[in-house]
Amino acid sequence: MTILVFDSGIGGLSVLREARILMPGHRFVYVADDAGFPYGDWEEKALQARMSGIFDDLVARYKPAMIIVACNTASTVILPLLREKFSFPIVGTVPAIKPAAEQTRSGQVSVLATPGTVQRDYTRGLIAQFASKVNVRLVGAERLAALAEDFVLTGKVDEAAVAKEIADCFIERLGARTDIVVLGCTHYPFLTNVMRRLAPWPVDWLNPAEAIARHARTLVETPQQVEVVQDLAEFTGGRPQPDMERFLSGFGLRLVAGET
Ligand code: DGL
Repeated sequence: MTILVFDSGIGGLSVLREARILMPGHRFVYVADDAGFPYGDWEEKALQARMSGIFDDLVARYKPAMIIVACNTASTVILPLLREKFSFPIVGTVPAIKPAAEQTRSGQVSVLATPGTVQRDYTRGLIAQFASKVNVRLVGAERLAALAEDFVLTGKVDEAAVAKEIADCFIERLGARTDIVVLGCTHYPFLTNVMRRLAPWPVDWLNPAEAIARHARTLVETPQQVEVVQDLAEFTGGRPQPDMERFLSGFGLRLVAGET
């Protein structure tokens, strides 16, 4: 069975990594809408229309058993529409606000995400529903997803820029400091070690990838036999740079030319 894993860039690979471990025997097709990257600044309706067209095409070509929208920003605008259109399971990515509210000891939690995700009603609804007794600070990071992409590809990162992007996550109020930072963008787990080093004090960085994969696993049948299948990747912007191609092949993904 084919499972589509979608993101604006390579952030969704943090989810694919977990899904492959927990869901052997499926063929994964990873799709990056790099032509639309970054999603963080897109206006809601325009982003919805763009993704809707991309998914129509992908579903017609791959006939997936499931779609995992491995992108918080995309999930905030597209999930109801996809569930209305398609009858197979659609799994979204939600900032881990509920677990953060349950786990915080100081009562100070920050959600680090794209500007789009922090401003959407969807995210504010999660806070109202699950974290009303906790002080949640929403931090919209303009450049962090792009910095994560660079880091993954080159191994280098502008540390001053990362420090600036995460600075607002750290607050101290009446002696209580932020103790959890929710990674509300699937790109950010790739920068966890860098952010950990640059943080003014230690915090837990909550990555929802494993929980997403665990949930996805409950929604499709487990294949009886593990078939050796080649996982694929396609980019909406056409063939990416050779360094990206090398990285994807190290990830076990063969690039195919998309038609979206
Ligand atoms: N990976 C995406 C997310 O989880 C966002 C990256 C972007 O700005 O496109 O929100």
